[in-house]
Amino acid sequence: MRLLSTLSRTASREPRIRPDLHHHRRPLSSRTHPQHPPPHLTRTTRPFSTTPRTPHNDLIPPTPTNSRRITFIDKDAHPTTLTVADGNNLLDIAQAHDLDMEGACGGSCACSTCHVVVADDAMYDRMPEPSDDENDMLDLAFGLTETSRLGCQVVMSEALDGVVVKLPSMTRNMQASDFAAVETKG
Ligand code: FES
Repeated sequence: MRLLSTLSRTASREPRIRPDLHHHRRPLSSRTHPQHPPPHLTRTTRPFSTTPRTPHNDLIPPTPTNSRRITFIDKDAHPTTLTVADGNNLLDIAQAHDLDMEGACGGSCACSTCHVVVADDAMYDRMPEPSDDENDMLDLAFGLTETSRLGCQVVMSEALDGVVVKLPSMTRNMQASDFAAVETKG
């Protein structure tokens, strides 16, 4: 009985609000429609920035401290000597100077159309060893020699300063002949 009377007194009791804090309560409207969105919905402004575009075949420009010489000898035995920087591969160098190097796969070591022959054995030995992928592609190259390399896989460095490479009279584009074979079958 005593418990029941206690409960009924508690249920009928008004919420206890301290009179001195009453004016600090936010009105209901501001609680359901807050003036400011929560932080995770707040729009933030960030500076827009981009990285410089690097088109294919853009070369690292030579500088007084990064300047090497390379000579390409075309199929007509005409030499072209260029000043280039370390870090550029022979395919990019040749194409940037309109020399006759096809590069059908875009330098991904999946064709042999960037085949070059290094003129000097000693210079060939200074180059890093060809990878297995490069050797596989070289096996398909027309006119393979002991000093053959794929131009897209040879990167200029100080050790290769003065290198001379010959462009073969023909290249074999296995991709093109593959497509031709598919078209013939169809
Ligand atoms: S461009 Fe295809 S292997 Fe070099």
